[in-house]
Amino acid sequence: MVLLDGRVAVVTCAGQGIDAAIARGLRSPGAQVVVSDINGDADMSVATDIGGTDVARDATDEQQMRHLVAATARDHGRRGLFVNSASMTPDASLQEVTGADFDKAITVHLHAAWPGVREASGVKPGQKTGSIVNISSLFGKSGNPGQTDRSAAKAWIVGLTKAAAKELAHHHVRVNAVHPSLTSTPMTAAAMPPEVLAE
Ligand SMILES: NC(=O)c1ccc[n+]([C@@H]2O[C@H](COP(=O)([O-])OP(=O)(O)OC[C@H]3O[C@@H](n4cnc5c(N)ncnc54)[C@H](O)[C@@H]3O)[C@@H](O)[C@H]2O)c1
Repeated sequence: MVLLDGRVAVVTCAGQGIDAAIARGLRSPGAQVVVSDINGDADMSVATDIGGTDVARDATDEQQMRHLVAATARDHGRRGLFVNSASMTPDASLQEVTGADFDKAITVHLHAAWPGVREASGVKPGQKTGSIVNISSLFGKSGNPGQTDRSAAKAWIVGLTKAAAKELAHHHVRVNAVHPSLTSTPMTAAAMPPEVLAE
């Protein structure tokens, strides 16, 4: 018997990068993992590697998140973990960031977290278990120059997480946020010169 035997984990945006690593990390201690990504081709290799299920889903789409949670509960049961993420580039300084950029950052980050939290929080009577993890960012706590839009959106995820945690505590459903710092992934590789990442 290993730690997550009998548990099912859904990981959104898991076709590559940090969330793909999370999906792989959850499989090792025994969870059945459902890998979801907006890019259907991307999630395939992760799911194949870990013997999981892959589903092409847009994490910002309420209806698609509802279907993802419902299909997972139907096929695997509900004793689970739901990992919510999002991603976007590029970043720009305060004077360069446009209203449209700002709206996009807010939409992608907030709308990727909110539907997942809401749909995953549908608790059956007597269930008394579950865990939701939102991927925020260190910059949501500390702020980062050139990332006012992303920092603001990630800070919002902290508020969402704290409120949802208080609301769901009496159902024994935990809601937490993790705050990665700069990590080498396809997103950062595309946005930063290798010498900056190497530092
Ligand atoms: N890499 C870093 O330095 C860093 C630092 C702090 C926080 N984060 C956070 O970690 C998470 C992952 O970052 P990463 O660097 O691994 O990103 P990445 O861009 O390398 O990978 C993101 C994955 O998400 C998928 N995706 C994007 N939008 C989606 C959507 N709407 N619905 C479903 N899938 C979608 C992409 O297809 C891709 O497979 C993000 O939430 C990011 O903000 C990353």
